[in-house]
Amino acid sequence: MNQDQTKQLLGQAAAKAILPLMDPETFIGVGTGSTANYFIDALADVRHLFAGAVASSVASADRLKAHNILVISLNESGPLSVYVDGADEIAPDFSMIKGGGGALTREKIVAAAAEHFICIADQTKWVSRLGRFPLPIEVIPMARSSIARKLVGFGGTPVLRENFITDNGNEILDVHDLTIDEPVKFESMLNDIPGVVTNGLFALRPADQLIMDDAGDIHHYQPGQR
Ligand code: 5RP
Repeated sequence: MNQDQTKQLLGQAAAKAILPLMDPETFIGVGTGSTANYFIDALADVRHLFAGAVASSVASADRLKAHNILVISLNESGPLSVYVDGADEIAPDFSMIKGGGGALTREKIVAAAAEHFICIADQTKWVSRLGRFPLPIEVIPMARSSIARKLVGFGGTPVLRENFITDNGNEILDVHDLTIDEPVKFESMLNDIPGVVTNGLFALRPADQLIMDDAGDIHHYQPGQR
């Protein structure tokens, strides 16, 4: 099985896992990326069982709409029972690095509004410690250089993501060479830098459940189980 086929199985497994939460009043929080795209495709088969979705990006909203799934804003939906999304890295406590697709800000907002966060990630995303994947940070363009200097002070090597503007009109710095020993503390510290919109550490609000492939099978894990 190749990585793409695995991602498809993960998306289908997530759609199945949330069936008990579905009713005609329920709106589902939907992430962004190639794994989340398979989740969206799997939702299409059960779209009659739930009310619609809140999307974490324009791309996901477009894909949901293409499947005739109603998309509403988070302001209209109120709290969500579940949010499903991929990750670039996930550690044993289910803290994550996200934002490889640049949707980190809306992903963090929608995840924070959900009672339950299910991460769907193939095993290449599993790490014992976060930081191998360059940490995406969405920044207000005028603050880019001053933020970059601070990141160098933290031992990082920030690289501007070329030809990329987020759905919110901002830029992304991808920060290489970071040692992230205390993700919760580091996430808060990065949030405190003026001009940082969002950083791609999801440690203050990690996933509650992980769906991942192991030895060719799809498994559901709670934190600390894998
Ligand atoms: C997008 C994200 C994605 O969840 C992350 O990049 C994983 O993507 P993929 O499922 O394509 O590997 O955070 O901003």
